[in-house]
Amino acid sequence: MRLLVTGGAGFIGANFVHQTLAERPGTHVVVLDKLTYAGNRTSLEPVADRIDFVHGDVADADLVDRLVGGVDAVVHFAAESHNDNSLTQPWPFLQTNIIGTYALLQAARRHDVRYHHISTDEVYGDLDAAAPAFSEDAPYQPSSPYSATKAASDMLVRAWVRSFGVRATLSNCSNNYGPYQHVEKFIPRQITNLIDGVRPRLYGAGHQVRDWIHVEDHNRAVWSVLEHGRIGQTYLIGANGELDNKAVVRLILAEFGRDPDDFDHVTDRPGHDQRYAIDATLLRTELGWEPRYSDFRTGLADTIRWYREHENWWRPQKEITERAYVAAGEQVL
Ligand code: NAD
Ligand code: TYD
Repeated sequence: MRLLVTGGAGFIGANFVHQTLAERPGTHVVVLDKLTYAGNRTSLEPVADRIDFVHGDVADADLVDRLVGGVDAVVHFAAESHNDNSLTQPWPFLQTNIIGTYALLQAARRHDVRYHHISTDEVYGDLDAAAPAFSEDAPYQPSSPYSATKAASDMLVRAWVRSFGVRATLSNCSNNYGPYQHVEKFIPRQITNLIDGVRPRLYGAGHQVRDWIHVEDHNRAVWSVLEHGRIGQTYLIGANGELDNKAVVRLILAEFGRDPDDFDHVTDRPGHDQRYAIDATLLRTELGWEPRYSDFRTGLADTIRWYREHENWWRPQKEITERAYVAAGEQVL
């Protein structure tokens, strides 16, 4: 099978490429990545001689058409992915997440190539503490420019299935953690702060809840949907990993042998979603998927070890990322 993986130099995409080559040696992987601030070629260094890497933009229709024409399937990870950035600079989110998806769908349509769309639970908005978890038929209620553009891209996929018969599936996953995640994101930011002797930074009171899943479990689910999912169907991916942000910070502090209150409260995110939670019953019952990382602490300890052992990977991004948070107005409360 020839597979085009967009965004393969990013967090989830790079893990997907590594896992695919390790577990499915018959797959030939072509990566298309623009290498934005979030893309990192060194994430693919260990497999550089086993893949084709194309440095380019998913919104470049001619390039995308040529690449899609040469593969059996596309898995579309590439996106602008960070909520905080979407609040300060929304335009790249519209361009990549919407126009990029459009370009891929047009190419998949023209070449009749199987397409899998990677999306997020954030398209459904947020939940009250007592509300039932999101399911596949939850209404779309995105809150941020990031989630609004992901929602728009999902809508395009659904329309291209119905109107043009594109053989597409969608998956909407909860918050991922694991190796190769950019230091702008919550868990790697706190881990690398602590490695640097800086206190973790909790937005507001830290009562927001996220449903954590290890990136390898997400990517195994993506393969299940790619191989066995029903065309046109959306599958929610989650591993019953609900925790509030303060609890996550305290688990990280405990791994570093630090006091549980050794963190700072900082300026809250505008429009901050309160809670995400996934009901993955469809994925489990129809496709037989089960997460392998059932214990968040174990996955977190593995992840902390990875960041300790791969300082060369994250160090070049750390200072510039922290400066951007300060420039965006983040202050200790
Ligand atoms: P990331 O920001 O780490 O990586 C994104 C990658 O896409 C980078 O390599 C970047 O260079 C590339 N890219 C950006 N714009 C591009 C363009 N115009 N053309 C080609 N490449 C481009 O993101 P991630 O966390 O790995 O997320 C991957 C996908 O998974 C996204 O679609 C995101 O919405 C979705 N998702 C992420 C999470 C999460 O917790 N991180 C959860 C659910 C869904
Ligand atoms: P993030 O990793 O940005 O993912 P998302 O916005 O997609 O959920 O943030 C996860 C949670 O952590 C979110 O509630 C915001 C919060 N957060 C902090 O408390 N401190 C931080 O330094 C960051 C980056 C996020």
